[in-house]
Amino acid sequence: MDEKLLTLNMLKSGMFLLLLFCGWVYVVTATVSYDGHAIIIDGKRRILISGSIHYPRSTPEMWPGLIQNAKQGGLDVIQTYVFWNGHEPSQGKYNFQGRYDLVRFIKLIQQAGLYVHLRIGPYVCAEWNLGGFPVWLKYVPGIEFRTDNAPFKAAMQGFTQKIVNMMKAEKLFESQGGPIILSQIENEYELMEYDIGNPGKVYAKWAANMAVGLGTGVPWVMCKQADAPDPIINSCNGFYCENFFPNQGYKPKMWTELWTAWLLGFGEAVPYRPVEDMAFAVARFIQNKGTFVNYYMYHGGTNFERTAGRFVATSYDYDAPIDEYGLVREPKWSHLRNLHKAIKLCETALVNANPTVTSLGNNQEAHVYSWGGACAAFLANYDTKYSVKVNFGNVQYNLPPWSISILPDCKNVVFNTAMVSFPGKHLQMTPVGTAFFWQSYTEAPPSVDDKKSFTANGLREQLSVTWDTTDYLWYMTNVNINNNEAFLKNGQLPVLTVASAGHALHVFINGQLAGTVYGNIDDPRLTFSGQVNLKAGLNQISLLSISAGLQNIGTHFEQWNIGILGPVTLKGLNSGTWDMSQWQWSYKIGVEGEALGLYSNQGSSSVNWASGTSLAKRRPLTWYKTTFDAPGGNDPLALDMSYMSKGQIWINGNSIGRHWPAYKASGSCNQCSYAGTYNQTKCLSGCGGPSQKWYHVPRSWLRPTGNLLVVFEEWGGDPSAISFVKRTY
Ligand SMILES: *[C@@H]1O[C@H](CO)[C@@H](O)[C@H](O)[C@H]1NC(C)=O
Repeated sequence: MDEKLLTLNMLKSGMFLLLLFCGWVYVVTATVSYDGHAIIIDGKRRILISGSIHYPRSTPEMWPGLIQNAKQGGLDVIQTYVFWNGHEPSQGKYNFQGRYDLVRFIKLIQQAGLYVHLRIGPYVCAEWNLGGFPVWLKYVPGIEFRTDNAPFKAAMQGFTQKIVNMMKAEKLFESQGGPIILSQIENEYELMEYDIGNPGKVYAKWAANMAVGLGTGVPWVMCKQADAPDPIINSCNGFYCENFFPNQGYKPKMWTELWTAWLLGFGEAVPYRPVEDMAFAVARFIQNKGTFVNYYMYHGGTNFERTAGRFVATSYDYDAPIDEYGLVREPKWSHLRNLHKAIKLCETALVNANPTVTSLGNNQEAHVYSWGGACAAFLANYDTKYSVKVNFGNVQYNLPPWSISILPDCKNVVFNTAMVSFPGKHLQMTPVGTAFFWQSYTEAPPSVDDKKSFTANGLREQLSVTWDTTDYLWYMTNVNINNNEAFLKNGQLPVLTVASAGHALHVFINGQLAGTVYGNIDDPRLTFSGQVNLKAGLNQISLLSISAGLQNIGTHFEQWNIGILGPVTLKGLNSGTWDMSQWQWSYKIGVEGEALGLYSNQGSSSVNWASGTSLAKRRPLTWYKTTFDAPGGNDPLALDMSYMSKGQIWINGNSIGRHWPAYKASGSCNQCSYAGTYNQTKCLSGCGGPSQKWYHVPRSWLRPTGNLLVVFEEWGGDPSAISFVKRTY
């Protein structure tokens, strides 16, 4: 070895040592830990304001704007679930593209200087199809979800590991210099654990150990999991969490889901939550040792395609501070931003001291944090009716009902939760005036002779047949009516009864729609029972059974059935009642237009479309198409579907989700006061109207000209009443 090389090698190893040293220093500073006061990032205790934004519920083109609105709203952290069924739609085939580009989403958050709370689950609930589990998982032999079951645990570990490894490879954990400061394993498991007993306990422990074993370098959270083992932090989800405390004094008090309102179900009125009550709930949590608050949702977004859970609407707006379309909702957004500013002024005292609580009256309290020279006070009035004057530090303060004043110096009020100073900017929908020229194509209901049908004895459960590749499954049979049946003469038509596990059903007799029935978000089951117009000879019965999203919550929710399970009977014949449940039935998966791809540019040319005076109106099983130029400007867009009934919508082949404006909102929409304990039925709007009439059309899915809009209408509607609207202030 010559001298030069030796020197070079020495130099290299010196540099290596230097690098190693830097790396070591780096690792020491880049850490996330916690104590009883707070999450500690790089050695500093922090009050963290977080908000949920679920990446597949918006488009990548919307992400930067959403993240900026979150940052300007005073957020430190963005929280998201990871959506397994979106990432692994069929076993071993992964998708991390487009709306499922998780790495891109996290890197955008990092670029904005915010942190990430990554809730891997992989059970997420989330009002999302099958709670985020892929449908194929249900058909893994011997599997039982979310319990001490070997095939399930293997699959769960595999996916969790894959996500963690992907984050590590991209250096996205804070311990690597990335933005992810927290993760989550499982999700709201304690109720199910309680239900199923010991196997649940074993599973929860296993999940915790498995997660910790992945060595992310950042803490794990289990929400609603009072027995979460160390070092995992158990956290609270709810409308209020001030009385929650973690299971050890050395864990910080975290609120992983502060519900900003509630999900919208088809058939339900639209829930909203007054911002005065939300701000009150946050201040109440913070004044009582809370140090991490996450808004669920900060941006709710849209359940595109068929991603919505059972009877969950396509809109997932959630009355969030950023609305479904990406615009800030006022005064909610600004009032909460001001709240966050006030809380941050108190940070030093909050993260270092314990509160001293004193009574200021019957229903009034002061919570004072004082540390070194820092002093922060929260003056609370829990009374739901009366404003109260209280004395604090020899000064009189006026507290509106159900409110908290924040005094970052223990003297001056910078914020009161009930005093909304922001002048309301009201969001509205305005017509953009695009005229559509519609064409229609009506499918005939299939019969037992259909070439794509197959037969089976008895009634088959729908999901086991379709594996959720479509919402639709046809159940078909023929009924032979003898000439001597009495009803043919006396006109007393027989009664067909069809019992289904859900979710909706159209009954066709000899090609004609004879009736439509559907369940609801609380009970998906339904029964059709009605007289049917049978004739002498052969009659075709074609039953279109429809899924409206898969169950996403409950103990062993994977065991929920859908489809026509029977009994199916025909009553009022000479021989009495026929039980058809055990007959041979023919099945056809999906509707014809799906197989032809009528929603796409290519497929839509495969049939002859009618237009003008032959345009089909108020006809079931009808496809509509039109081409249009993108409306000018940048305002977000939606389709007003008020006069359509039920089906699905596509723009340039992209599914914007299920429409169901025929399902009118039940519930009572009384005046609601911000004061007093909130719940999901307290404040509702839109009673009696369609639960959802506007359907978000992402701008980025449009070209300047020649866009294809396709609507499949199962039930019957008038497409000439479909209009484009824009979302503006
Ligand atoms: C929800 O709030 C309303 C109005 O305050 C109340 O009447 C109702 O009983 C509450 N429901 C539940 C489940 O607490």
